[in-house]
Amino acid sequence: NLVEMKLLLQAVGALLCCSLSSLNTLDPKGKNVCRSLRDPSTLECCTGWRQEGKDCTIPVCEGEQACLKNELCVKPGVCRCPPGYFGAHCKTRCPSEFWDSDCRQLCPCYPYGRCHPVTGECTCNTNRWGPLCQFPCRCARHGHCDPIYGNCTCDEGWWTSTCAKPCQCMSGGAVGPSCEQLTGRCQCHRGHWGLKCPVSCNCYMSPCNQRTGVCECDPGWWGPSCDRRCNCDLTHSSCDPASGQCLCQPGFQGPYCNKPCAPGTYGSGCMMSCGSCKDNQTCSVIDGACAACDPGWKGTQCNSSCPFGFYGDGCKQTCPHCRKNEPCDPETGNCGSCEPGWTGPRCEEACSNGTYGKACSFLCKPCVSGRCHHVTGKCICEPGFQGESCESEHIHLKAITCLCVCVCSSGIRGAVLAGVLVPLLLLLLAVLFCCLCCGGGPADGKDRSLPHFSLQFYVHLTYALHQTLDYLKSGVSNTHTHT
Ligand SMILES: *[C@@H]1O[C@H](CO)[C@@H](O)[C@H](O)[C@H]1NC(C)=O
Ligand SMILES: *[C@@H]1O[C@H](CO)[C@@H](O)[C@H](O)[C@H]1NC(C)=O
Ligand SMILES: *[C@@H]1O[C@H](CO)[C@@H](O)[C@H](O)[C@H]1NC(C)=O
Ligand SMILES: *[C@@H]1O[C@H](CO)[C@@H](O)[C@H](O)[C@H]1NC(C)=O
Repeated sequence: NLVEMKLLLQAVGALLCCSLSSLNTLDPKGKNVCRSLRDPSTLECCTGWRQEGKDCTIPVCEGEQACLKNELCVKPGVCRCPPGYFGAHCKTRCPSEFWDSDCRQLCPCYPYGRCHPVTGECTCNTNRWGPLCQFPCRCARHGHCDPIYGNCTCDEGWWTSTCAKPCQCMSGGAVGPSCEQLTGRCQCHRGHWGLKCPVSCNCYMSPCNQRTGVCECDPGWWGPSCDRRCNCDLTHSSCDPASGQCLCQPGFQGPYCNKPCAPGTYGSGCMMSCGSCKDNQTCSVIDGACAACDPGWKGTQCNSSCPFGFYGDGCKQTCPHCRKNEPCDPETGNCGSCEPGWTGPRCEEACSNGTYGKACSFLCKPCVSGRCHHVTGKCICEPGFQGESCESEHIHLKAITCLCVCVCSSGIRGAVLAGVLVPLLLLLLAVLFCCLCCGGGPADGKDRSLPHFSLQFYVHLTYALHQTLDYLKSGVSNTHTHT
């Protein structure tokens, strides 16, 4: 518990420290920020102000100047009633002609409107408009005036700019009692027309234009009174309301528009031809779309060729390397022509049978021990031959780097000799090498003589070695003769 208390205290301390330090960051250019009198390097709020954020914007009214209840401190030492109030205890509302704290401002729209107690903004009375409510509304009894523009909005059933006239829509003919404010036009039921919808249309079962009374035939009917039936296939056409002629939709034809386009054609009037659909399948009579395209074609209608460098089914295959990077046939992938030295439909085969070069049209010269290069026609010789036709042999000096060491071992003598001699020989070489090194080799070009002591040593050593070898030889030959 003690530990917990300690941690808590530390946390609180840190928090206090933080908040104090952040409070202390005053902006030197902030409002009412002054330099301290005691220490000019530090900043503080000027007298009469309290800090808020990085500025000192809160006025202070303290001591004798302290504000009463309901009052607001508006400047250092100055108290006022809140906006819209006045009086010793700020309990009295401002009269309509005033606003602001202590009712110090005159309301300019009085008496035709009221002022907002804080902003002074005008709210006009119902029959006035304008920024200061200075204009009287000109709407009649059934209209309401817009406080900014002064224009009228009419009650239902009234129209004109001042809402002075009643609509008088015909009951039965009109949808409701209200009409357009500018024209006085009522909204008619289907089958009625006229400004106030008094007249029935004369169009069999179809409606008519609400202004002119001209018939607007329903689908499947035609004639001035829409009383004549169309003979068209209405799922694929409409009929001309004046002539009764069938107007076919894309993909259909015939006087009644009931015949789809012939295979291989599509569209409006069947005027378009299908693209290259796969396996000669026909395209959609309406939009020409194919289920899939033939090799070499792409697009919904299969009417665009493969892009440059591609061919085949879905244009997914890459062209081979044709002459000068020319594109291949979009359907087959074959090249028009090949680079020199190459042949075959896709230029993948080198020239053969003694030909070379462009279109394999040149005959190779004889190559005696070699073959002809398919691009250049030059002979490429077999190893060991040279010359333009590989006719002459090539003479090479073969570096002989092979060193043969024969160790002839015959019986024990050989074995002993080898066993003893080889290590001895090695020892001798090592010592010799060491002596030459330690004794100092030729330091420069002038002094090439070996130091005296090492030469002596070398001579002794060689002598000793010879003795040993002689002894060993005789010993071995003795044992040999004994056996
Ligand atoms: C009044 O006039 C204003 C501005 O011309 C316009 O935006 C508004 O729709 C009008 N109101 C009516 C009811 O006509
Ligand atoms: C595709 O149609 C054309 C024209 O109708 C015809 O000449 C061709 O033989 C057909 N090909 C196949 C593979 O059916
Ligand atoms: C393919 O057919 C469509 C539809 O008719 C057309 O808009 C488009 O231009 C045609 N594209 C080519 C490359 O002909
Ligand atoms: C190469 O020559 C042989 C024999 O004359 C012939 O059978 C073959 O078709 C030729 N090949 C080419 C690629 O010309």
